[in-house]
Amino acid sequence: MKFNYIQKTPFYNTLSELGKRIFLPDGIFYWSGRAKNEAELIGTLGAAYGFEKDFIEGGSSDWLPCYLREITGYSKLSVKQIIPYTSIGGLLETRMIWKDWIIKKSLYSEKEASLLSRLEKYITTPVITGGVTNGIFQACSMFLNPSDYIIVPNKRWGNYDNIICQFIGAKTQSFEFFKENEMNIDGLRSTIEKIAKIQEKIVLLLNFPNNPTGYVPKKEEASNLVDMLKDSQTTHDKPIVVLVDDAYEPYVYKDDVLNKSIFYDLHQLDENVIPIKLDGITKELLIYGGRVGFITLGLKPSWIADEEELQNLKDEINNKLEGFIRATISNCNSFYQVLIHKLFEENGFEQIIKSREGVNKLLKIRYETINSELKKINNPNISIDPNSGGFFVFVNLDSNKIKARKFADHLLKEYKVGIIPIEKLDENINGIRIAYCSIDLSKIPELVKRIDLALKDF
Ligand SMILES: Cc1ncc(COP(=O)(O)O)c(C=O)c1O
Repeated sequence: MKFNYIQKTPFYNTLSELGKRIFLPDGIFYWSGRAKNEAELIGTLGAAYGFEKDFIEGGSSDWLPCYLREITGYSKLSVKQIIPYTSIGGLLETRMIWKDWIIKKSLYSEKEASLLSRLEKYITTPVITGGVTNGIFQACSMFLNPSDYIIVPNKRWGNYDNIICQFIGAKTQSFEFFKENEMNIDGLRSTIEKIAKIQEKIVLLLNFPNNPTGYVPKKEEASNLVDMLKDSQTTHDKPIVVLVDDAYEPYVYKDDVLNKSIFYDLHQLDENVIPIKLDGITKELLIYGGRVGFITLGLKPSWIADEEELQNLKDEINNKLEGFIRATISNCNSFYQVLIHKLFEENGFEQIIKSREGVNKLLKIRYETINSELKKINNPNISIDPNSGGFFVFVNLDSNKIKARKFADHLLKEYKVGIIPIEKLDENINGIRIAYCSIDLSKIPELVKRIDLALKDF
């Protein structure tokens, strides 16, 4: 497989050795495609099919994937929809509707026609992954060689380290996330500077609303961040790939903060700041066990000369992504892919957003309550990280006085309160993550009261 169009773009140099090497072999697809058109007897598909009456008592004469009769009692969806494999990159209908969903989530108005048309034209058709985690894994594998650095905030989801360091063998270069209660954009700028000296590409992972802090940048901070990335890209003349983990995208509770993914602003930049959107149904549509995520790349107009080149480039990128999927999970759960397609198609985006509003409201009031209760704690040994969204709040503990793990143990044993301690002193983190997403409003004051009491024991 040749990747002539990718090779012509700066994107090529951002790929890991694996990213350069991977492709979707066309053997099975080539012969299956030809058989469909040319064969009288087709023996290419690796799934059992038959006339329904030959494997189900009283069945029809329809040619169907063989299935167990009992299965049909659990879903209104037809066996034709939930039994077969989907294609490697996912059901095309689901991918296309998610692309429209991404466009919808941009919140571009009709007056912003040029932004909208750039978005519509220059993003890839999302490829379906096994949840957002799998999307993060595929994307990290695409860009990181073992021993490459990826820049991450010091406060981040712990599973990134598992994927990046333990699994891929790459390295994280963290920066202090906050400075005076705002995002530490200068810190990120100098970290980029440092990595630019040793690598031909910069890979950065951002996650807003953030796990574990709930941080979302204020609109002004977000625009400073985008400007800084743009400047850094031109200053160092190296592509900057930004993996945008949008797991908690719709859960934003304040008006003065960024109310959509930073992917959109990064995508509008002409510079080679290349955003990769990683989102999924898990939190966004509240289907945790569905395990459907999406990878969508933002491309740059300067990379291609015309429409044909754009399509060829998209096809090549799609081939590589499908190569990753094929090599790891082969393809995703078809039931949930069909469900997502139907959910959107039969209800419409507005209805789904409306239906989620109850959850947004529930979380917003918990968010307000936990923050106001935490503020009442008068203890010099703690500070709360800025937070405006997501599922969590993070309480820093003075590491000279209280160690997070010891505190969590004490809180659990003596006060019967469970939280997650994060104690990484080498990255200047020592605190507790409280998942208010799963605590009823009525219990929040009591939970904070017990934390306050436990703090007094140290
Ligand atoms: C920041 C972040 N990204 C990704 C994920 C994983 O999402 P999924 O369950 O879809 O793999 C989580 C889940 O906890 C998360 O907190």
